[in-house]
Amino acid sequence: MIPMQKVGHPVTELTAHPLARTSLNGEITAPGDKSISHRALMFGALAVGQTTVSGLLEGDDVRATAAAVAALGARVTRTGPGDWQVDGVGVGGLSEPGTVLDMGNSGTGARLLMGLVAGHPISATFTGDASLSRRPMGRITRPLQQMGARFQGREGDRLPMTVTGPETVMPISYDSPVASAQVKSAILLAGLNAPGITTVREPKPSRDHTENMLRQFGAEVSSEADGTGRIVRLTGQPELTPQRIIVPGDPSSAAFATVAALLSDGGKVTIRNVGINPLRAGLFDVLCSMGGRIEHGNTRMQGGEPVADLIVEGGPLAGVTAPEDNAAAMIDEYPILCIAAALASGRTVMRGIEELRVKESDRIARMVEGLRAAGVEVAEHEDGMTVTGSGGIPPRGGCTIDAGHDHRIGMSFLILGLFCERPITVTGAETIATSYPDFVAHLNGLGADLR
Ligand code: S3P
Repeated sequence: MIPMQKVGHPVTELTAHPLARTSLNGEITAPGDKSISHRALMFGALAVGQTTVSGLLEGDDVRATAAAVAALGARVTRTGPGDWQVDGVGVGGLSEPGTVLDMGNSGTGARLLMGLVAGHPISATFTGDASLSRRPMGRITRPLQQMGARFQGREGDRLPMTVTGPETVMPISYDSPVASAQVKSAILLAGLNAPGITTVREPKPSRDHTENMLRQFGAEVSSEADGTGRIVRLTGQPELTPQRIIVPGDPSSAAFATVAALLSDGGKVTIRNVGINPLRAGLFDVLCSMGGRIEHGNTRMQGGEPVADLIVEGGPLAGVTAPEDNAAAMIDEYPILCIAAALASGRTVMRGIEELRVKESDRIARMVEGLRAAGVEVAEHEDGMTVTGSGGIPPRGGCTIDAGHDHRIGMSFLILGLFCERPITVTGAETIATSYPDFVAHLNGLGADLR
């Protein structure tokens, strides 16, 4: 058996040096999808028998979920790079962990597992890093309380927090105030052990990996449009059958090389194996509407999810208004969209994204502050930002940005540094390993200079 622990020391500071006249070229394979990797481990733990997973993202967030699922009684084994086995205990079969579950930086890991624990008559205490401990948990504790779970946490529903599930979970019908896959999934995971039908309505459709994968494991899940939103219904207490899961590449990670390639004059980059689920791939549509040249090749279905190779060619971009209706389909991609916008001609307007204020950091505040430090013109709104692009002229750069426990902030400013007059240094860069441990190797392999 290969140990779950990581080896080596994470790099804490990285500097992106301007590309000068070279352009990015070559080919990479997108790392495993983080959202799907978390779910594969969790649903594997709830199936009866052995699930195998290949292409699992081996970032810090997913490793924290693997350790938590093992502490809850499943057997989790790493058999090779990206290859894992989960021996599940069945729905209702989890046991009380003997240790605190440290979810590190991962909101998805924490919120989904709190739903899972809430569906069992056990208690578990969740903790996390400084970023996760600031994030609001009330959005999941409110519906889970209606299902019978009890919570004891810090002021303002923050971690550390202890969850105690009831003897019998109540199926509920919940009208969610936010379009959040984490909220929807936490309720559905608790609902797996409820006798009856659990219903979640969301105001706009959020990513549907939970529904897709639960169906694959044999659960009865229906989903239908309801006005601008969706209603999802799950029939409780199914017997989940073990699966062989092939995790597609993560569009949220592929987004960084995509934007770098678009900004690189004369560059041509192929990113293989990218998940293009329409509820995730909104960024690629916006980049195309800005004039970006992104082609799909070898489009196929993999494990219930659409996947393609992206062929990206550099060239000029023009600012647009990002459609608010599609915000949930690119919620994690606004930081890197800001970088594309910084070099486009004209303004890019990004509104209706107040959710960004409660991600790993307040991403609106951090992007605005960092872009200004790099010499990019940006206006902050309560619900977003408007970036005025340079029309391809390198912004000043020459600044240091603290990633502040937010991987996507760190990676976004490193991409910006490639196209500035002077280098950009990112501190706290170890956070990049939460979602994209190969980020530096991939970008440097394409011709970037990240040190
Ligand atoms: C995720 C859902 C999103 C996203 C997060 C991953 C998931 O959060 O920001 O990075 O895997 O369910 P919300 O659904 O809460 O917006």
